[in-house]
Amino acid sequence: MERLQEALKKDGDSKAASALASLLTAAERTTEVLPSRITRSRAQIPGEILTRNTQVPVDRESAAPLAEIVFPPDIHPEAPVFNDSVTGAVATIVEEWANLDALSEVGVLPSKTCLIYGAPGTGKTRLALWIAAQLGLPVLVARIDGLVSSFLGTTSRNIGNLFAFANRYRCLLLLDEFDAVAKLRDDPQEVGEIKRVVNALLQNLDSRREIGLTIGITNHPSLLDPAVWRRFDAQLEIPRPGFDVRVKIAKHFMPPVEASEAHMRLIAWFSEGATGAEIEALTRAYKKHVAVRGIKQDLLSTLRQYATLNSARIDRTRRDLLFADQGVLFKALKSDDQLGFSHEDIGEIAGKDKSTVSRQISKIMEEKAAE
Ligand SMILES: Nc1ncnc2c1ncn2[C@@H]1O[C@H](COP(=O)(O)OP(=O)(O)OP(=O)(O)O)[C@@H](O)[C@H]1O
Ligand SMILES: [Mg+2]
Repeated sequence: MERLQEALKKDGDSKAASALASLLTAAERTTEVLPSRITRSRAQIPGEILTRNTQVPVDRESAAPLAEIVFPPDIHPEAPVFNDSVTGAVATIVEEWANLDALSEVGVLPSKTCLIYGAPGTGKTRLALWIAAQLGLPVLVARIDGLVSSFLGTTSRNIGNLFAFANRYRCLLLLDEFDAVAKLRDDPQEVGEIKRVVNALLQNLDSRREIGLTIGITNHPSLLDPAVWRRFDAQLEIPRPGFDVRVKIAKHFMPPVEASEAHMRLIAWFSEGATGAEIEALTRAYKKHVAVRGIKQDLLSTLRQYATLNSARIDRTRRDLLFADQGVLFKALKSDDQLGFSHEDIGEIAGKDKSTVSRQISKIMEEKAAE
């Protein structure tokens, strides 16, 4: 254009030359504005607004919905409780996703996909929903087993329809129970089908990357195809809670009931190896007993009842101690460093005074020494 403008000027067509010159200056001004405008519109999560009346796509054969929409007001407002490193990692993801604009303005490609994995009941689904709520985004929750149709070829079409829907609307796509796809592999009849399904997933995940946020959840990360695994920018493992986190989870679920610090620590001690979901259930049992029998109830008998009704879920040694001779239990509680119990704490739990507790512990020690 510049060369043409100069040629025209040389030829004496000054009118055409100045018309081009003014076009060029205008064009220069737009180039200056353009880059940030482009990145801005790309970074924002685009799409139409989902409402409670929006129809989700359905499986053509069974008419079953392929996904469910969860809106931010229906999401538990409090963050699930994790250890510091997981909490920190979650904060990083939320921060990145809340600042997609700022990131792409400085040329950093934000991660838009995250895989969350860990044992059942560790709070993965709750975490994914909470992240969406922090961003004010509705969640399109797809249960992969719902997508897997018994009709050949239909599964890939369902996956395509689901992603097309997710890409059209402003939302976070949550692929829950992601390993269901991998389970198809166990069926030798399905070799061709599983390949098609995995390919459909890979293609759709790739094209969605530019468009919106996606979280995948699995209990069995080892079952996932490595190619699927690689599609996720961030991978977050949710571990089973350690002692301190278990105390926090008990405190999280205790209100409106007020429980003493010693009671919550004992709940955490008792739920060694348990998940958040199990601690929630145990805390619920405790609250039920408080509601029915009043605050002066005996925590040890509550725990014994819970252990009897949930025998498979409770750590074996802790359960045996609970049903052992009181002196043996008291001694074990007293010598547990994590618990850090005084004779008074143990007395409070067992409904005894502290001198009884120390007498029973000494008796056990003497018996041990005599052996
Ligand atoms: N770390 C945690 N903090 C608070 N609540 C938790 C935590 N872990 C589990 N829970 C509670 O346990 C229940 C189950 O949680 P959630 O459904 O998120 O588990 P999940 O990891 O998705 O399990 P699954 O793999 O079986 O789907 C919820 O009621 C949740 O509130
Ligand atoms: Mg879940």
